Amino acid sequence: MTELLTAETIDQAANCLQNGELIAFPTETVFGLGAVAENEAAVAKVFQVKGRPSDNPLIVHIGQAEDIFNYAIPNKEGDALIKKLSDAFWPGPLTMVVPIAEGTFPKNVTGGLNSVGIRFPDNEDTQALIRAVGKPLVGPSANLSGKPSPTTVDHVYHDFSGKIAGILASQPSRIGVESTVLDLTNPNQVQILRPGYITEEMLRTAIPDLNVSTVSLTDLESADRPKSPGMKYRHYSPRQEVIAVAPNQITDYVLAHKENKRLGVMAPKSYLQAMGSGIISYVIKDSVEDAMHNLYAGLRYFDDQEAIDEIVVIIYPDIEDNKAYRNRLTKAASQVVE
Ligand code: TXA
Ligand code: MG
Repeated sequence: MTELLTAETIDQAANCLQNGELIAFPTETVFGLGAVAENEAAVAKVFQVKGRPSDNPLIVHIGQAEDIFNYAIPNKEGDALIKKLSDAFWPGPLTMVVPIAEGTFPKNVTGGLNSVGIRFPDNEDTQALIRAVGKPLVGPSANLSGKPSPTTVDHVYHDFSGKIAGILASQPSRIGVESTVLDLTNPNQVQILRPGYITEEMLRTAIPDLNVSTVSLTDLESADRPKSPGMKYRHYSPRQEVIAVAPNQITDYVLAHKENKRLGVMAPKSYLQAMGSGIISYVIKDSVEDAMHNLYAGLRYFDDQEAIDEIVVIIYPDIEDNKAYRNRLTKAASQVVE
């Protein structure tokens, strides 16, 4: 039985976690699959129910910003940077990868790395849950490995009903894609390992002297020992092939293919109208924020329909603000047309 828990039953949720069970929790990015980070057996269950590759480390979620200093190895320069970033962006969609001493967390949390990703999420019920447990929680996205991440309670039920102890209920996730993962192991040269809502520009605005760059996907995927192991795996994929198509080509693409394939199309209304009948549509507003907010919900909507052969999704141009959306969509897609 997977129980639906609420702000009123947080103590029950905390109890389950303390007993080594799994509870999914809402965050502003996507829902996480929670287990007590220091409980190696509970963390092992997370990998097992998700079907997650064991070399992909987990993010540790804390209930108050200053708790990061309980884990990061003290370092004058690094600590000052963590403080500035946490003042500017926490609680929020930023994960800080910091150096830790061996044995700080079980090996299955860190994948054997000497660093850990830490995040203070912006959902008050989840913060209250972590504080009630009194220990940080691991929280990979609460989806079966390889599938689109969950942005609603229904998505979590769909993948894990009967397999986890409970879900802390809430509204859909506000942002819709996972946090920005920022590597702070060298404070003089920090690197975005996974783009997210927090952009390079936002980081530079908050901390003008910050030396920040984004690791390219090819670097991440080809390195012998990938910096962010998670980035090398296929992700966010429904059963059907996904084709990402630029705004100025998507209407023609659909008109050219809709006769011989049953298409699911995710695009703003004006584009869908120009494509006519004979497609299954998922409407979004014409903005990258709304596309990002709905990407996983749209992919899941199509995934569940036998009557769709191929999914076509609008992709926006390669500018700073569109990086997180493009990163997730191109990882889900087998072809990009632009
Ligand atoms: O928004 C989010 O971050 C969500 C919510 C639930 O908080 N969580 C999430 O977790 O996306 P997950 O496990 O799906 O993604 C964790 C990412 C992976 O790409 C992993 O490789 C990277 O963070 N990561 C974790 N620890 C790392 C480390 N020590 N060094 C480099 N990358 C790390
Ligand atoms: Mg994930």
